[in-house]
Amino acid sequence: MRELDRNMGDKETCADELIFFVNGKKVVETNADPEMTLLTYLRRKLGLPGTKLGCAEGGCGACTVMLSKYQPYTQQLLHYAVNACLAPICSLHLVAVTTVEGIGSVARRLHPVQERIAKAHGSQCGFCTPGIVMSMYALLRNNPTPKATDMEEAFQGNLCRCTGYRPILEAYKTFTMEGRCCGGWGQKNGCCMTNENGDNEDVDMNSASMLFNAVDFAPLDPTQEVIFPPELMSLSKSQKTHSLRFHSNRTVWLQPDNLDEFLHLKWKHPEARVVVGNTEVGIEVKFKNMLYPVILAPAFIPELHRVIHTEDGIVFGAACTLSQMEAVLKQAVATLPPHQTEVFLAVLEQLRWFAGQQIRNVAAVGGNIMTASPISDLNPVFMAAGCKLTLIDKDGSRVVQMDDNFFVGYRKTLLRPQEILLSIEIPYSTRNQFVSAFKQSPRREDDISIVTAAMSVTFVPGTNIVEDMKLSYGGMAATTVLAKNTARKLLGRCWEEELLEEASSSLAEELTLDPSVPGGMVSYRKTLTLSFFYKFYLTVLQKLRQQGLNVEELRSDFLSATELYHPETPSSVQIYQEVPEGQNQDDVLGRPMMHLSALKQATGEAVYCDDIPLFENELYLALVTSSKAHARILSIDSSAAEQSPGFVCCVFADDIPGSNIAGKIAHDETVLADSQVTCVGHIIGAVVADTQLHAQRAAKAIRIQYEELQPIITIQEAIAAQSFYQPIRTIQKGDLEVGFKQADHILEGKMHIGGQEHFYLETNVTVAVPRGEDDEMEIFVSTQNPSETQCLVAEALGIPANRVAVRVKRMGGGFGGKESRSILLSTVVAVAAHKLQQPVRCMLDRDEDMLITGGRHPFYGKYKVGFLKSGKIIALDVSYYSNVGNSLDLSLSVMERALFHMENSYSIANVRGRGFLCRTNLPSNTAFRGFGGPQGMMIAESWITDVAQSLGWPADKVRRMNLYVQGDLTPYNQVLEQFTLDRCWDECLSRSEYQQRRAAVELYNRQNRWTKRGLAIIPTMFGISFTASFLNQAGALVHIYTDGSVLLTHGGTEMGQGLHTKMIQVASRVLGVPCSKIHISETSTNTVPNTSPTAASASSDLNGAAVKNACLILNKRLEPYKSKNPKGSWEDWVKAAYFDRVSLSANGFYKTPDLGYDFDTNSGRVFNYYSYGVASSEVEVDCLTGAHKNLSTTIVMDVGVSLNPAIDIGQVEGAFMQGLGLFTLEELHYSPQGVLLTRGPGSYKIPAFGDIPTRLTVSLLRDAPNDKAIFASKAVGEPPLFLASSVFFAIKDAISAARAESGITGPFRLDSPASAERIRNACSDRFTKLCPPAEPGTFRPWSVQV
Ligand SMILES: Cc1cc2nc3c(=O)[nH]c(=O)nc-3n(C[C@H](O)[C@H](O)[C@H](O)COP(=O)(O)OP(=O)(O)OC[C@H]3O[C@@H](n4cnc5c(N)ncnc54)[C@H](O)[C@@H]3O)c2cc1C
Ligand code: FES
Ligand code: FES
Repeated sequence: MRELDRNMGDKETCADELIFFVNGKKVVETNADPEMTLLTYLRRKLGLPGTKLGCAEGGCGACTVMLSKYQPYTQQLLHYAVNACLAPICSLHLVAVTTVEGIGSVARRLHPVQERIAKAHGSQCGFCTPGIVMSMYALLRNNPTPKATDMEEAFQGNLCRCTGYRPILEAYKTFTMEGRCCGGWGQKNGCCMTNENGDNEDVDMNSASMLFNAVDFAPLDPTQEVIFPPELMSLSKSQKTHSLRFHSNRTVWLQPDNLDEFLHLKWKHPEARVVVGNTEVGIEVKFKNMLYPVILAPAFIPELHRVIHTEDGIVFGAACTLSQMEAVLKQAVATLPPHQTEVFLAVLEQLRWFAGQQIRNVAAVGGNIMTASPISDLNPVFMAAGCKLTLIDKDGSRVVQMDDNFFVGYRKTLLRPQEILLSIEIPYSTRNQFVSAFKQSPRREDDISIVTAAMSVTFVPGTNIVEDMKLSYGGMAATTVLAKNTARKLLGRCWEEELLEEASSSLAEELTLDPSVPGGMVSYRKTLTLSFFYKFYLTVLQKLRQQGLNVEELRSDFLSATELYHPETPSSVQIYQEVPEGQNQDDVLGRPMMHLSALKQATGEAVYCDDIPLFENELYLALVTSSKAHARILSIDSSAAEQSPGFVCCVFADDIPGSNIAGKIAHDETVLADSQVTCVGHIIGAVVADTQLHAQRAAKAIRIQYEELQPIITIQEAIAAQSFYQPIRTIQKGDLEVGFKQADHILEGKMHIGGQEHFYLETNVTVAVPRGEDDEMEIFVSTQNPSETQCLVAEALGIPANRVAVRVKRMGGGFGGKESRSILLSTVVAVAAHKLQQPVRCMLDRDEDMLITGGRHPFYGKYKVGFLKSGKIIALDVSYYSNVGNSLDLSLSVMERALFHMENSYSIANVRGRGFLCRTNLPSNTAFRGFGGPQGMMIAESWITDVAQSLGWPADKVRRMNLYVQGDLTPYNQVLEQFTLDRCWDECLSRSEYQQRRAAVELYNRQNRWTKRGLAIIPTMFGISFTASFLNQAGALVHIYTDGSVLLTHGGTEMGQGLHTKMIQVASRVLGVPCSKIHISETSTNTVPNTSPTAASASSDLNGAAVKNACLILNKRLEPYKSKNPKGSWEDWVKAAYFDRVSLSANGFYKTPDLGYDFDTNSGRVFNYYSYGVASSEVEVDCLTGAHKNLSTTIVMDVGVSLNPAIDIGQVEGAFMQGLGLFTLEELHYSPQGVLLTRGPGSYKIPAFGDIPTRLTVSLLRDAPNDKAIFASKAVGEPPLFLASSVFFAIKDAISAARAESGITGPFRLDSPASAERIRNACSDRFTKLCPPAEPGTFRPWSVQV
C-alpha cells in the first residue's frame, strides 16, 4: 500500500501532481491547494474569466462548466455540467474541463449555443450567459436531440436576473425536438418557436412577431465538438489509479485507491471529512469559516460507487451521485412491475425538485444522508421506506435501519467517528404498499424545503385496513422525524374519513414547533404536515379504488389535489410594429437588432470589472462590517489580523485623508464608521492583503468591542418611536372631508410590501489604480453612477475631481442597486489604493453584497377610501411608511415617486397622500427599478380590490370605471396628454380573451375544491423623468476618425439594458452610417463629465437626445462636403472635412424642457410624459400547500415608437419577471436584532426558469408615437415592472374563491409577496384551524416583518 498518511509535518515536501485538462490543454499542478475551487483556478491561475462568480454557493449557475471523464468500468465518456465554484481542483485528477472559452469565440468560430442565445436576445447584461451556455452545451453533448423538458431540467440550476428567461428558452428550443417542427428555420408568423400553433391570430397586419430569424443560425453539428483530449484518454485507460495526496499549509487531501486504505485513514483521522460532491462541505468552508485539516476523497473506491440490484431492492454505494441514482431508478421504474417501484417513484419525485442539475451531477446520496440536515429531501423517503444502511470501519461493517434512531441530533448521526457510510439499500415496495413524497419550498425549482415528507402505508391484503404505516417529516424538528404516535394510532384502521380526522388532529398534536423556531412560518409548517397527509390520503383512496376495493369514491372536485405538478413547456408570443414601409435597409432604428455585446457575452469574451487582469503589485481588500444594528464602537483590535498570512494594512476612518462624509443629498453618512454603527453590515474598515482569501481571513480576525444601543428595526417600531426622517411629504387635491361625506361607502385597509434584493448577477466590484503622479487615480468600477463615484472619491482623498477618472465598461446588472450604494465600496477601495499607492481590488461576495448594500424599500400603507354605490371612487386618504434604513440616501425621492403614483391610473376627485420615511437600523435602502412607484401603485391596487370585493363585483369592472381619461388632472395637477392607457386596456382584454377566461375560471373553481384559479387585469401609468429636475440632463461626445469610424461616448452606463446598442442605432440614423462603423468603448468621467446616474428609465431619452445633438452638429459640419460631392462616400466626406481642417469631434447636450414641480404649491410639471401598460394574468393555486402556477400573462405596453423592439420586449419581460419576484416570491428575512438572515441564492429566491407564465404574450402598442422623446420612443426600463402585480391580484382572486368554500367573503388583507405561506394561511380551512398561530407578543420570532 502506498503510504498516503505522511505526517502533516511533511506537507511541504510530498505532494502529488494533479493532472487535468482545460479546454484541451494539459494542466499539471504540483501545488494543488485542497481548498481552492475550480472557479478560482480558472479565473486567477489560468486567466480564463469567461466563467463567472455569482454566488460561490452553487445557487446561480454563473460558474457552470462541463466536466468530462472516461469511466473505465463502463468504458464510456461521461460529460456533465457542474458548478465550478464548488468543485475542488483536487477532485479533477484526470478530468477534462470545458469552459465557455473552450467551445467557441467571436474571433474563431461561435458555437451554435453561443450564437443562438445572443441572436435570440437571450443575453442582456450577459453575466449569467456563459453559465447558461455551458448548461445547454453539456446537455447537447449528451443528447444532441433533447426534448424541451430536458432543456428545462438542464436550466434548473441557472438564474438570470435580466431577461425574464423567455428569450433563452426560445433560443434553445431550436435545438429541441419540439422546436424543430420546421427545422427551427421558421417562416414568418408560421413557426412554432414564435407561435403556439403556427397560425397566430394574435398578430395583426403590419405587426411582426419574429424577433430573430432562425435561418441565420449555424446548424449544430455534433461531430464538430471539441474531442476528449487523446492524451487524457490514454492516461485514463493506461494508468492504474494510484492514491493521491495534495496539501496546503491548512489542509491535506487524501485520495486513496482502495477501501482498506480509506478505512485505515478514517480510523487514524476520525475527524477527517469525507468529500464527494463538496456541495455541503464547500459551503461550510466558504460561509461558515470551517477548517477541515484532513479531507478524505473516495473518488477511486469502487465499493462506494457500485450499484447492485438485490432481491430486496437496489443498493447504491454512498458516493453514487444523485444523477446516477436518478438514472438507475428511472430504468427500474421502466422495467419493473409498478407495485415494486412505489419507493423509487417517491425518490424520483424528490429528485425532480432537488437542487439543479449541476449539483445533482456531483452530490452524493451518502452526502445527503450524512449531512443529516433536517430539511434533507431524501432522508424522509429513505426513512418512510425503511432503507438499510451499511456502515463500515476498518474492523468490519454493520447494517442499520434508517429510522428515528439514526439521526441523534441536529446534523448528527449514530455513526462512530471512524465509520463511514458504505451504501444504502432502497427496497422494492410490496403489492399492498403505497408511498408518496412531498416537498414544499418557497420556489419550486432549486430550493430547499420548508417542509418535506414521505409516507408509506401497507394494507392487509385485499382490504383497506392499515397494516403498517410510516410518516416521515423534514423541517419539523432538528432532525428528520417519524410521526410514530400518529402512525401507531392508525394501525388496524380503515382508510376512510374517520382515519383522516384522527390522523389530522394527532399530527397537529405530535408535530409541534416552538413559535421562535429557526425558519419561522410556524403555523404554515404545521398546516403543511396535515395538508401533505390529506393529499396522501386522497391519493391512496384513489389507488385503492383503482384496485377494485370497496372504498369511498374520490369526489371529482377533489381529484386535482392528488395530481403531481408537471410543468408545461412555456410558449410565448411577441408582437411589435414593423418599421414603416420603405425604411432604408441600413437604417436599423425600430428593428429588433441584437445587443451589440451579446456575442461576446455568450463566448465569455466580454470583459466585466473583475475580469480585468490583475495589475502588477495589485492587492485585495476585504471589508470589516458591524455585527450590531446599533452600537457605539468601544475598541478595534487588529492585532490578530496583522499576524495573518499576506496581511498588508488596515484602513479605518482615520486613514481617510479628505472628507469622511458621504450621502449625496443629506450628507448623513460616513464612508467608514467613526464612533457609532447604525446597522448590521455598516462598513467600519477594511483589510488589505496579497490575495482575496488572505484579506477575507484577516478581516474576520479583527475584533471589535461594542456598547449596544436600542435598535429600531421595523416600520412598526419606527412608527411607535416616531423615528422619521424629514420632511414628511404630502400631496393633496380636492376636499377630503367633502369627498368622504358624499361617499356611499367608506372602507379602510392596510398592506405591507416587503423589500427586495437587487440580485444583480455581478456583485459590486471596484479596482482602484493610483497613477503615481499628481494624485491621479483611475477607478474601474461596476456602477450606474460614474460622476458621483468620482466626486466622492475626490472628496475622500482630498483631491480635485479632475484627478479621478472613473471608467465603466459594462455591468453585470444594476437595477438601481449600483446607483448610490456602489460608491461607498469604491471610495473605501480608492482610500486603500491611495494610502498604499498600489492597485487595490475588491469584489464583494454575494453574502456581503446582500448584507451591506440595501435594496428596495419595504412599504407599509394605510388607507381610507370613499366610493359611491356605482363603484366610482371619490375620496382617498393614504399614508405610506417606508423603511429607509440608517441613512436617507435616495429615499425621499423614492417616497415622492410613491406619492406621485398613489392613485396608479385612477381618477379620484379628493385625494391626500402622505409619505413617512422611517429611520431604522437597517442598511440604507436605495433605488430599485420602479423607485417607489411599484409600492405606491400596489397599495392603490389593494384598495381598489377591496372596493370591488366589498361590492361583490368583478374587480376589472371597478378598475375600468375609475380609469383616467385623456385630459384628466393627476393629484399633482399634471394634465394627461397623449393618453393611451384605455387603448392598452382594451387590447389587453381582447388579446387575453379576458371575459372567456373569467367564465372558464369560474367553471374551474366550481369543479375543483382544493385548487383554485384566479384572474386579474391591472393597468400601470409610470411618469418619466427624474423627479429631481436637475438630473434631467445628459451629454455625449462623438469623434469621427479619418478612416470614417466613429467613436461614441455618452453619459449612460451599460448594465444589460441595451443602452449602448440603442445609442449606436440613434447615431447611425442621424449620421447615416451603418452601425458597424460606430463603436462605444466605455463610459468615463474624463470623456463626458457631470453625468446623471443611469436611472429613472430616462437614459435613452436623455442620452439619445444628446447623441442626436452631437451628430447633428457633425452633420452640419460635413454638409458642405456632401453637397460638393453628393456621390461620394462617408469616408470621402470625412477625409475632405479633415483636410479642410474641420473639427470632427462634437459634444452633444440635452436637458428635458419645462420640468419643475413644487410640493408647496402643488404645481409645475413633474414628468415629461407617461409610459402606459396593462397586463392580465391567470394563476392556479394549490390551496393545500400554497404553491401556485403562473398559467398565463398578456401584456400590452406602450413604448411609443420602439427604437429596438427586441430590446424593449426584453425590458418588458425582464421587468415583469423582476416584479413577479417582488410580488410573489422574494422575501428578505431579518432577525428582531436586525440581522439579515437571507444572504444568498440558497435562502433568497429570485424567479427561476420555471416561474415564467406558461403562456406569455407581450404586445407593444402600435401607432403610439411620443412627441416628447427621441424618435418618438418611450422609456421602458421600469414601467412594466408593476404589471407583475397582475399575478399577485390573480392569486388574491384565487384565494377569494378558496375562502368562499369556507364561507368567508369580502375584503381581506394579503401582504406582498404572496408567498406560499401567505397563500396557504389565507386559504382558511379545516386544516388551518388545527394550526392556529401563537399569540403575537408572547414569543420572540425568528424573523420580523421590517
Ligand atoms: C445549491 C444547492 C442546492 C441544494 N439543494 C438541496 C435540495 O434541494 N435538497 C436537499 O436535500 N439538499 C440539497 N442540498 C444539499 C446537498 O446538495 C446535499 O446534501 C448533497 O447530497 C451532499 O452531497 P455531497 O456529495 O456534495 O456532500 P459533501 O459536501 O461532499 O459531504 C457532505 C457531508 O457528508 C459526509 N459524507 C459524505 N459521504 C460520506 C460517507 N460515505 N460516509 C460518511 N460521511 C460522508 C461528509 O463528510 C460531509 O460531512 C443543496 C446544496 C446546494 C449547494
Ligand atoms: S457562482 Fe457558482 S453557482 Fe453561483
Ligand atoms: S442577462 Fe442574465 S443576469 Fe443579466
